[in-house]
Amino acid sequence: MAIDFDVAKAAADLEKKTAPEVLEWAFAKWHPRIALASSFGAEDVAVIHMMWSVRKDAKIFTLDTGRLHQATYDVMERIRSKYDIRIEPYFPKTDAVEQMVTLKGPNSFYASIENRKECCKIRKVEPLGRALAKLDGWITGLRREQAVTRGTLPKIEIDKDHGGIVKLNPIAEWTQAQVWAYIKENSIPYNALHDRDFPSIGCEPCTRAVKPGEDVRAGRWWWELPEQKECGLHVHKS
Ligand code: ADX
Ligand code: SF4
Repeated sequence: MAIDFDVAKAAADLEKKTAPEVLEWAFAKWHPRIALASSFGAEDVAVIHMMWSVRKDAKIFTLDTGRLHQATYDVMERIRSKYDIRIEPYFPKTDAVEQMVTLKGPNSFYASIENRKECCKIRKVEPLGRALAKLDGWITGLRREQAVTRGTLPKIEIDKDHGGIVKLNPIAEWTQAQVWAYIKENSIPYNALHDRDFPSIGCEPCTRAVKPGEDVRAGRWWWELPEQKECGLHVHKS
């Protein structure tokens, strides 16, 4: 996609806009070729409600790794029926999963970082690439506060790893408390695991509850170091 605007200037301008204003601006430019990537965590259900308030036909897709929690499917269904929206799932390539599990077993991710990244690549990163190949832009629920790797996140950037499309992070500056206030104010369905000390939710075998005082992402890939805890959806190759 040809970028016909000044990205640095847009990022500076969007810093002054609220999250719904950021979405309105982006939809005017790119709808229907812009979509939210939703894992149905707290941030994403908040963004779904906000998108729906701005445009009822805003696009949403999810990467169904085949290893998600049942509670995640439950909230997906509650969101789908409450808002009467379509959620497009992307599944991993069958042959790639079959080959990996044949060679390394169903729990290969615990054995090494290489194995874990291989599993994330097959189950999330490749399907994300397929989803994004159809789009001019994608929207995430990423926040700066979430991780050491996310501290300088802009509200708009060019995603060079996915063909130079736009990546929009409308709630980049929100705090966790703001996300929850918005969910409660608007009675948005959320993943029941959040009430069981799971602040950040990914695949079932790779997510656990956190202890009081632990970092919000401590329960993700808990056997790895904080700077390694990205699954490849949001990491720049260069
Ligand atoms: S991850 O990279 O560690 O897995 P995290 O769970 O924090 O990401 O989610 C950050 C953002 O990535 C979400 O707000 C969402 O936009 C996107 N995302 C993460 N997992 C998925 C998924 N399974 N399907 C679609 N989008 C996802
Ligand atoms: Fe595989 Fe775990 Fe990554 Fe899910 S989070 S794709 S199960 S390694």
